[in-house]
Amino acid sequence: MAKEGEKGEWKEFIWNPRTREFLGRTASSWGLILLFYLIFYIFLAGLFALTMYVMLQTLDDHKPTWQDRLSTPGMVIRPKADETFEIVYDIQKTETWDLYAQALDKFLAPYNNSIQVQKNDECVPDQYYKQEDSGEVKNNPKRSCQFNRTMLEECSGIYDQHYGYQEGKPCIIIKLNRVIGMLPGKNGNAPYVTCGAKVQEDTDKIGELMYFPPNGTFNLMYYPYYGKKAQVNYSQPLVAIKFLNVTHNQDVNIECKINADNIPIGSERDKFAGRVSFKLRINTKN
Ligand SMILES: *[C@@H]1O[C@H](CO)[C@@H](O)[C@H](O)[C@H]1NC(C)=O
Ligand SMILES: *[C@@H]1O[C@H](CO)[C@@H](O)[C@H](O)[C@H]1NC(C)=O
Ligand SMILES: *[C@@H]1O[C@H](CO)[C@@H](O)[C@H](O)[C@H]1NC(C)=O
Ligand SMILES: *[C@@H]1O[C@H](CO)[C@@H](O)[C@H](O)[C@H]1NC(C)=O
Ligand SMILES: *[C@@H]1O[C@H](CO)[C@@H](O)[C@H](O)[C@H]1NC(C)=O
Repeated sequence: MAKEGEKGEWKEFIWNPRTREFLGRTASSWGLILLFYLIFYIFLAGLFALTMYVMLQTLDDHKPTWQDRLSTPGMVIRPKADETFEIVYDIQKTETWDLYAQALDKFLAPYNNSIQVQKNDECVPDQYYKQEDSGEVKNNPKRSCQFNRTMLEECSGIYDQHYGYQEGKPCIIIKLNRVIGMLPGKNGNAPYVTCGAKVQEDTDKIGELMYFPPNGTFNLMYYPYYGKKAQVNYSQPLVAIKFLNVTHNQDVNIECKINADNIPIGSERDKFAGRVSFKLRINTKN
């Protein structure tokens, strides 16, 4: 009997026909609760949207609000070897160096003169190409300067399709990572790249080097860089190095670095800043 009573109580709790209550509440009570939560959540969503909106207003689409880590630029070499930074090949085995030449072809394709002329300006060399915003008025989009592939001359892949690899005089291309707002060089002196032996015993093995553009400079007109969004067509300037007489059949450890009064090299914070090293080995006998 007690059991039946309990069952009846439950039934009544779910739906009480006398008081017309569902789960202990009348329809209007339920309605009020739903209405309350509806308004409450709409209010929360509105608050969230408002906060987001205000925050996004303070962000500039064309400039990162936070930039810290990249204040000293790293350098990278092309052709991109594997992670170990090695360029090792055998002159007699075409397949061992053809990959490097192909990688350079691909890397340099956007620098074709025709493309550069279409996308970018012919700037006044040896001075920064500043396009500042005047207060709230954004000077966007910003133009960029031409870096013609032909400026790499013998390392452009145009006059010598094999970039010298076939003759044992390979070209290496260097670029400096992009840093927004960086003005490298001082007093009108452009930053330039120099390469040398990483270790003393390799000094005699490096042989003569040739730099393109002359003196291995990154012209000042390619700076400052304003960011991907503001400067859509930006082409990073390059420096090519041709190894004219590197010793064959031996590992040669090379280090290239940027020379600019205001770019610290290998700082404590980032030992790769402003320099890059790699191994070059050209085999000529099986
Ligand atoms: C760039 O120029 C090279 C040689 O002049 C040509 O073979 C290549 O197809 C060009 N690439 C593009 C993307 O126009
Ligand atoms: C790039 O090449 C084009 C055509 O080859 C030439 O008209 C232009 O002046 C060159 N630009 C620079 C900066 O040398
Ligand atoms: C970028 O290059 C395209 C052509 O590829 C050109 O139409 C456009 O005007 C350029 N934009 C800027 C901001 O230089
Ligand atoms: C290269 O450097 C030398 C010596 O510093 C200088 O005389 C020459 O004008 C430079 N060449 C170019 C093209 O900047
Ligand atoms: C190339 O380097 C070797 C030593 O490694 C040297 O004997 C030779 O004279 C150099 N050749 C040229 C053209 O500089």
